Amino acid sequence: MSQLATAIDLSSELQRVDSAVLKRFESRSILLNAASRYLLSSGGKRMRASLALLAARLLGEPDAERALNIATAIEMIHAASLVHDDLIDTADVRRGRPTVHSKWGGNVALMVGDYLFALAAEQMAEASDPRIIKTLARGVVRICEAELSPVTDVVPLQRTLEQYFAKIGGKTAALFECAAESGMMVGGGNDREVEALRQFGYEIGLAFQIVDDILDFTADEQTLGKPAGHDLQEGTITLPVIYAVEMGASEVVREAAQTFEPSPELVAAAVAEVRRICATKRAFADAERLVANAVKRLAIFPDSAAKDALIELAELVLRRKM
Ligand code: FPP
Ligand code: MG
Repeated sequence: MSQLATAIDLSSELQRVDSAVLKRFESRSILLNAASRYLLSSGGKRMRASLALLAARLLGEPDAERALNIATAIEMIHAASLVHDDLIDTADVRRGRPTVHSKWGGNVALMVGDYLFALAAEQMAEASDPRIIKTLARGVVRICEAELSPVTDVVPLQRTLEQYFAKIGGKTAALFECAAESGMMVGGGNDREVEALRQFGYEIGLAFQIVDDILDFTADEQTLGKPAGHDLQEGTITLPVIYAVEMGASEVVREAAQTFEPSPELVAAAVAEVRRICATKRAFADAERLVANAVKRLAIFPDSAAKDALIELAELVLRRKM
């Protein structure tokens, strides 16, 4: 599995996170066990776990077990949300492999998501800190609310942007926020320090999703592990589309965004137009601004390897190709 290379080598801790996740799967259900293992072995950068582990170290050596506990719970919540998301999106492929529901069916996917989430709750309880449990539970509430909140059209710009940022703020940034915030709680931060990490996590989470939405237009299928233009195909309106329309793109973009189940030809034409007009560059500038802001939040902390690693992690969000 790929891991992040940062100023601090987290590989052994991330391996412990993976082992802790696998240990939780030691259930009597062979099917749930197999499907969960399949999901967890499909790669992933363990970015949220890394964020929690690094945030916990920002003020010195934390309680390693507690840091590991929250990192593990967060990875399990993330995995649960992906299984359910793929079911809702009827996505057949993730990270280049068949999704859980396309391999085992919708009922199994539903149960695997619930199962992982329940295991995450058990893991959270081991954090033995009601503040952390509440933070993670609130995060899941926001993820669920956002998953079903629509971006209704590409215009008017202001309303569309508000809907878009509310959606990605919940579905993606909330968990980054929880990871950074609860990591800092484990690390013993005061209210101001916890708040700084909360905002850091939120901003890099927004940037992460914007880059994800850009890659849907710019990356090839092999790198991305899913076909380009997938969001438009699914009727998901993202920042490159919103900006393309605002920048005067041809009608094909709005048409693709507004058509229920657009044809592959229409999607391909819209993708080409979004690229031609450079709307992805404008969206990327937003992601860069968010990362720059996030990094500024760390100014209140003393210099350390953990701080350097968090800055690297923030910058990696912009450089990732999948
Ligand atoms: C991915 O969005 C969406 C999420 C990561 C959030 C999904 C959340 C739920 C389904 C709520 C259930 C939560 C739990 C904990 C059981 P996307 O479809 O834009 O991204 P993708 O391209 O990676 O699919
Ligand atoms: Mg999806």
